[in-house]
Amino acid sequence: MRTSTVFATLAATAAATPVAIRAAADYQWAVTEWDAGCNNAGCDYTFRIAGPAATDYPARPAFAATCSGKSVDSKVFTSYAGCQMDAGIKGSLVSKINEPAELLGSRTVVPLQVSFQFADPSQDNTYWNYTGVQNTTFNRGGSPPQSFAIIPKESFGIA
Ligand SMILES: *[C@@H]1O[C@H](CO)[C@@H](O)[C@H](O)[C@H]1NC(C)=O
Ligand SMILES: *[C@@H]1O[C@H](CO)[C@@H](O)[C@H](O)[C@H]1NC(C)=O
Repeated sequence: MRTSTVFATLAATAAATPVAIRAAADYQWAVTEWDAGCNNAGCDYTFRIAGPAATDYPARPAFAATCSGKSVDSKVFTSYAGCQMDAGIKGSLVSKINEPAELLGSRTVVPLQVSFQFADPSQDNTYWNYTGVQNTTFNRGGSPPQSFAIIPKESFGIA
């Protein structure tokens, strides 16, 4: 099931009105070069991600970026870290590892959450926000960098 979420309180402008939208069908992002691991100082991850352009409503721009994150202490990732968009790419992208991450071994399942927000190319002051989660692993040392898909299942617009 695809779900849409309305966030009642938004940090944007007081006039902004969030509207729930259906996550677009057949829309997915490609993660490559996923590399994540832990040592005594904590855990960290890095990956490349790309999303295709689409013209069905709401229109979505193509993007490509490099993301990374680091646990602050006790191997817990608590908040989003900003990704580095490739040159010329508009929009913003953030990533984090959700709790509870089972941090018991070198190939532990970890839920990677990624969110992409972009301005509507055809309407002023309108933004779209897509978020997806995909389980992956702390693979460093045990297997080569991995590739997998993230399907954004939550989305909303701010107009
Ligand atoms: C999308 O919206 C969520 C909830 O408001 C927010 O936490 C996240 O940072 C937004 N994504 C981007 C890329 O700004
Ligand atoms: C990730 O794995 C957990 C259990 O290990 C499961 O409950 C959850 O639904 C999975 N999430 C996704 C997005 O597949």
